[in-house]
Amino acid sequence: MTTTLLTGIGELVTNDPALGDGTALGVLSDAALVVDGDHIGWVGARSRAPAADTMQDLGGRTVLPGFVDSHAHLVFAGERSAEFAARMAGTAYDGGGIATTVAATRDASDDELRTLLAARIAEMRSQGTTTVEVKSGYGLTVSAEARALRLAREVTTETTYLGAHVVPPGTDRADYVALVAGEMLTECAPYARWIDVFCEPASAHAFDGDESRTVLLAGRAAGLGLRVHGNQLSYGPGVRLAVELGAASVDHCTYLNDDDVEALGAGGTVATLLPGVEFSTRSPYPDARRLIEAGATIALACDCNPGTCYSSSMPFVVALAVREMHMTIDEAIWSATMGGAKALQRSDIGGLGVGMRADLAVLDGPSRSYLAYRPGVPLTRAWDPTA
Ligand code: NIG
Ligand code: FE
Repeated sequence: MTTTLLTGIGELVTNDPALGDGTALGVLSDAALVVDGDHIGWVGARSRAPAADTMQDLGGRTVLPGFVDSHAHLVFAGERSAEFAARMAGTAYDGGGIATTVAATRDASDDELRTLLAARIAEMRSQGTTTVEVKSGYGLTVSAEARALRLAREVTTETTYLGAHVVPPGTDRADYVALVAGEMLTECAPYARWIDVFCEPASAHAFDGDESRTVLLAGRAAGLGLRVHGNQLSYGPGVRLAVELGAASVDHCTYLNDDDVEALGAGGTVATLLPGVEFSTRSPYPDARRLIEAGATIALACDCNPGTCYSSSMPFVVALAVREMHMTIDEAIWSATMGGAKALQRSDIGGLGVGMRADLAVLDGPSRSYLAYRPGVPLTRAWDPTA
């Protein structure tokens, strides 16, 4: 295995509290790091760095764990900029536009979808994301959902079956729930690690608490881990259902009452916040501080999709979390890295301690603060071992 010594790291965020300054972020200044094959072999002060096969001097830049974007809808064709423009002129989001993307996606060939997917993953890497979860949900037939997951599986192990995204227009609700929990699940499960449901009684298109429970229990019986789109558009049952069933994550959490916050504080389900969605739908931001005070684990993700947030930028999400949700810079960075890893129940990513995957992001600035201090400036990229 080739070893590479990265030196000249002005600031190194490891997310290992045993390293560096003793905070949750485990920050070291003037640091070095050895990459051994595909994992971290050594971390410490530049002055004590061991020899390695090759060396790269990062010239004082900041290194952090690659972003773990634990929520994305990347298998789709077409776009919905007209819907976005209408929303900015006052039209509310209700999930109805999903049908537009479903039609465009069904019409696309496998190779067209593959090309679009690869471009989106490359766009994410160029902004520092090294792991992304990818959902189905723009097919909504047995074959179209299975195809989406087969294509997603070509680019990530973190694949999520979201047949329960919306009830396709013109379809009987009960019949569709039975299909999602039956034949469609059987065809999709071989390509999926997770199952997800858009639990939103306030939307005529999405699923209520009972329907969501049916879908999630069927997914669990088929061996899939659970995720939930919950409480995005209204107060509702999604968050408590997710916690009750032991879902890995409940995502959005825009409208939370005291019971929801208490459940997230006490339970093992990660609260994944998606502030790019609130930005792009002009909605109120989730109350991150209330969740933090209750003891909840928070992940931050993009939710890249053509409807509610057509951004793949984790640095943008970090800046929004800091500016609009009052997370500290360190809280936001932790949630965008280790928080995402916890939402995906992964212990090999999200940090840069010895033995973890060598998934690094390099920030062209002297400190991690630059992620929020210089919003919209393309300073962060995934580390390329060959560069
Ligand atoms: O996470 N809420 C449901 N699904 C997506 C939006 C999908 C779309 O509008 O195309 C979300 O916001
Ligand atoms: Fe989503």
